[in-house]
Order: sequence, then C-alpha cells, then structure tokens
Amino acid sequence: MNDLDDELVSNPQTTPSFGEIVDRRRRSLLAGAMAGIVSGIVPFGAFAAPAARRAGVVAMDFSAVAASSADEVRLPPGYVAQPLFAWGDPVGDGPAFKHDATNTAAEQALQAGMHHDGLHFFPLDGSSSHGLLCINHEYTDDGLLHAGGMSPWTAEKVAKAKAAHGVSIIEVRRTGDEWRIVRPSRFARRITADTPIAIAGPAAGSAGLRTVDDPLGRLVLGTLNNCAMGVNPWGTYLTCEENFNGYFKAGVLPTADEKRYGITARTAGYRWHEHDQRFDAERRPNEPNRFGWVVEIDPMRPDSFPVKRTALGRFKHEGAFVTLARDRRIVVYMGDDERFEYIYKFVSSRPYSKGETTGGLLDDGTLYVARFAESGGGRWLPLRHGLPGLTAANGFADQADVLIRTRQAADVVRATRMDRPEWIAVHPRTGEVYCALTNNAKRGSSEVPGLNAANRRPENLFGHIVRWREAGGNAAAESFSWEVFIECGDPSLANENLRGNIKGDLFASPDGLWFDRGGRLWIQTDVSTSVLGDRNHANFGNNQMLVADPDSGQVRRFLTGPRGCEVTGITATPDGKTLFVNIQHPGESPSERANPDQPTAISSWPGGQFPALGTGRPRSATIAIRHIGGGTIGEAG
Ligand code: FEO
Ligand code: CA
Ligand code: CA
Repeated sequence: MNDLDDELVSNPQTTPSFGEIVDRRRRSLLAGAMAGIVSGIVPFGAFAAPAARRAGVVAMDFSAVAASSADEVRLPPGYVAQPLFAWGDPVGDGPAFKHDATNTAAEQALQAGMHHDGLHFFPLDGSSSHGLLCINHEYTDDGLLHAGGMSPWTAEKVAKAKAAHGVSIIEVRRTGDEWRIVRPSRFARRITADTPIAIAGPAAGSAGLRTVDDPLGRLVLGTLNNCAMGVNPWGTYLTCEENFNGYFKAGVLPTADEKRYGITARTAGYRWHEHDQRFDAERRPNEPNRFGWVVEIDPMRPDSFPVKRTALGRFKHEGAFVTLARDRRIVVYMGDDERFEYIYKFVSSRPYSKGETTGGLLDDGTLYVARFAESGGGRWLPLRHGLPGLTAANGFADQADVLIRTRQAADVVRATRMDRPEWIAVHPRTGEVYCALTNNAKRGSSEVPGLNAANRRPENLFGHIVRWREAGGNAAAESFSWEVFIECGDPSLANENLRGNIKGDLFASPDGLWFDRGGRLWIQTDVSTSVLGDRNHANFGNNQMLVADPDSGQVRRFLTGPRGCEVTGITATPDGKTLFVNIQHPGESPSERANPDQPTAISSWPGGQFPALGTGRPRSATIAIRHIGGGTIGEAG
C-alpha cells in the first residue's frame, strides 16, 4: 500500500456502513439472550457450517516463528529462503543493477521494477521446476530509485519512475534446491507505465476514454500501481491498478467525479505531471479515466498486447480473484481498497469452455457490488445501466459511464462501505470466500456523516477478515450469508476495542490472502510504517506471513519480514514444494520516502542478510521458500 493515500476518504455518503451493521447485528442478537454463545464479534449461528468445513483441522506441521524486529526474513526451522529477483535485477540478459541507483531509465525498463506485489507462477508443461513468474511492481520510492532522490526532479527521473512500475515476466528454473532466472529467455518482458495496452469491454471507445493521443479511446499507454492479481482458467494473468489517483493532478477545483476517486490538486505525489502532460488532469481530463482497471496479460505470448478489461469496473482495484460458478461462468471477486469503499464481483454472461484461450469472457457480463445485511445475509447488487438509479435521467449516460464511474454507481445502489477491502480468496473445497479488511482508523470519525461511536470498531486499527457463503454454494448467486472470521488485535491492550479475537499468533492489518491446495489460509500483513512498532503495535513486530486453519480459526506465524517492509504476493509451484513470496519496500521510512543520503538507515535487506547481493540500498525482492527435506510447504516441519 502506498501510504501517500493513507489519509484519503473519498466516500462521504451516508448509507449504513459495515461497521454499523456488524454492531447492530451484535446488539440485536445479544438482546435475544444469546450472549452466552457470543465469543467474538459476530455470532456464527446464521452461518451454517458446510460439511467440508466440519472435516477437521488442516495440517500446519511447522513450528511458529516469534514476532521479530530483526532486519531479515525469518522462517520456521527446516525452511530456507532464497532471494531470487530484486529491484534492478535484469529480467532477461539486460543490464546489471547499480547499487548507487545510477541505472538510467532505459536500463530500468529492462530490469525488475520497484515494490514487488502480487505474483503468480505459471508452470511450463505442468512443471514444478520450470515456469514463468509474473510479478507486479506497485509503486516507487523515489528517494531510493534515483541517485540524489527527487532533487532535482527531472524528465529522466520521471521516465525512470515510469519504467520501474508495471509488471515483470521472468522465466525461472530449479536445479536441486536452487532457483535461477533463465537468461536469456524468449518470455522475459517488462510492462511499464509507457507500454501500449488495448482497451476492451463495454467502455472501450466510449467518450469518457477518448483523448487527444487516442481519439478512438481504445489504446492507452501503461499500467500503474499494480497491486494484487488474479489468474484466469485459460492461463493468463490479471494485474490490478490500485491507487492510480496519486499520479494525476486535478485543478484547484476538482470535478465531483475527480473527487470521488481522490484526484485533487495536491494528491499527485509522484510528480509525473511536471514532466508529462498526460498526468495533468486539467489538460487531459479523460486520462485518469484510462486507469483504475484490471489488465489481462498473456505471459506465454511475449508479443501480445496487454488488455484493460473495462467490464470489471474502475476503482482502486486491489486484486481480481477468479473462480468458476456451478455452470462454469467466470466469477471475479474484487475489493476497492480505500476506507469506506466496496466489494465487487463480476459474473460472465457465458460459461467457460475448456480449451478457451482468450479473455473475451471478461468483456461481457454483470458487475455486482455487495450489500451486507444486518441479518447475516447479503445481496449482490447489479450495476447495470437502466436499472433504477442507473439511468440517463440520473446522470449515467450508458453502461460505459456506469463502468467508468463504478464508485458513483455503487453509491446509488447503496452498497456497504467496508474497512478497506484488500485480497479475496476462495476456499478450494468449500467455496467460501474470505476478504481481508485491512484497517480503518476513521471508522466512526465525524469526517464521515452517518457513522458514530457505537460502531463495533470505531477505530479499526488492526483490521479483520470477513467470509461469506454464496447461496446454494454457487459463486454466481445474487445472495450470500456472511460472518467475521477473525478480528485482529492484541489481548494485552487496555482498550477492549483493540483486543480482537485471534486464536494463536498475533497479527494486524491483514492484506494478502491465499489458499494453498491443502486448504490452509495464508495471511500477509501490511501494517503501515507510520504506525509500525508504535504503542498499539508493539507486540506485532515487523510485517509477516501466517497460516490460518479455516476450520478451527487457529493462526500460526510462518515468516517475519525485514524492517520497514510489507509482505505481499504469494504463489506456489504445482507440487506445493516451493512458495514464492514478495518482500515489498524493506527500509520504508515513516515519512514515506527514503532519505537518499542515508538509503540504508532503516534496512539493508536483502544484502544485509544475503551479503553476495551487495548492500547499497534496500530492495524489494521475490524470495523462493523451500523445506530442506523437500516437503510440502506448511506441512513439513
Ligand atoms: Fe496495494 Fe491495498 O494494497
Ligand atoms: Ca495494504
Ligand atoms: Ca495489498
């Protein structure tokens, strides 16, 4: 998460929020003399446990790692981390990284970008020792990216920052226990904030996407703030544009639509607009409409254009988590990661047929937004032009307009405002859907009308994980039942609101969620460096990765990261014996940008832990995790 956006609230509407609903549910059930069975936030009675969930506890046969503030990656005994792909490493046979940050923009465009986030392993020929990794590069710390940081700020530095965004595709191969990047590789590729990308789906070619550079509204340069991801059954990768607003500068009086997406005169912290007019929304008012989408990439076809799939809506996309409905329609779960924003899902019109090779299924379907009812039920509300409130008379010209202004459409149908939806994961056996709500310190603040101190977590400092079951176990259903799975916190804190109900190892600010094939729920944390280690967070240590048993709710810590990092992005080889994980922004300073004169003031990772890599400055990196006995990750101990 880029904390440049951490203070942002763009949704001032007054529909009941999730916090209010949780609290009302709790109160009504307490009033019903059920207090004796209420052990957590929300009673689970309305949430029938499926048979598969009663099957028992999943294996977690590793020793828990203690919370840590050390500047290194720590794992359970028997596990080894290998740094594989750090910021600046060439994707193919490109130029080597220079530790003094003097690589040029042109060189950066052939190297790993900064701030690794979501990733996925695509096996070649089904192999667990040879495949492609697609890796998102979410954003840049311009204090580390350039020699001298942002002073002076030049066109070359903007070009380098743009080249450090986007996605890397690398070919990797394992020999014995060691993974290596294959160089050269015909698959090796960088997609940056300048790469041509096609626009498809209902908004393609519409008036709101046309610009002077692209009068047809069908081709955009670049993808940016690529956060989490998704994978389609036909073998392509989805990369998701999250905090795109931070790249665009609006005028002194931003439009209502700009404000709804957090685009203002003061939010363009990356300062690209100073050297590239595309990012000056006063001059190019439609350019911001061309970001905030889900982008499909075919890693197996290095010459193919990425495609922005507009049917999936425009918002601060955390990820796009794909599953199949009973009738094999494609279902994509998506969170909009900002305080008081919504959870969405897309359902394709047509079922997926085996052998299908294109993303056309993602261009035709229905986008829904979630309303969590007080009863423990919920509805998926279609965002379809022509439905009440989503008409021309109400300011929505057509479906393209509904999609470009997805947030405004979701406001109209009175969706439920959430505490920052991050990753979403679908249990491989039960079909239950889990969503990390990372935190919301402004829940209950007077800044947002309609909230009050009676909400369950008026200051949700530590976040929680909610889960739901679709009606009939069908991912395409229009209704669901829900409960809170875990409320994060620290039972030693005096404030009851901050204690949570974690069973096992403590964590805060859940972000990455992922199920392995054994049904273990992996949780990655992103406590902001602005509060990491403060009074309330003292017992959590550095950001980390844990494993939860969805049946028992027990949580065990598997990994602790280096100082100032967040742990994000997780994928496994098909045999479950290698886990690839990203360590993002080690050494991030509470003031957001590193001091270019003291780049290692907070962290020297990975060089500090792996001296062969050198120690000029901290670098985000992909690590490969193996068990020394060659066992399945999480089961071998
Ligand atoms: Fe990019 Fe919401 O994390
Ligand atoms: Ca986050
Ligand atoms: Ca995230």
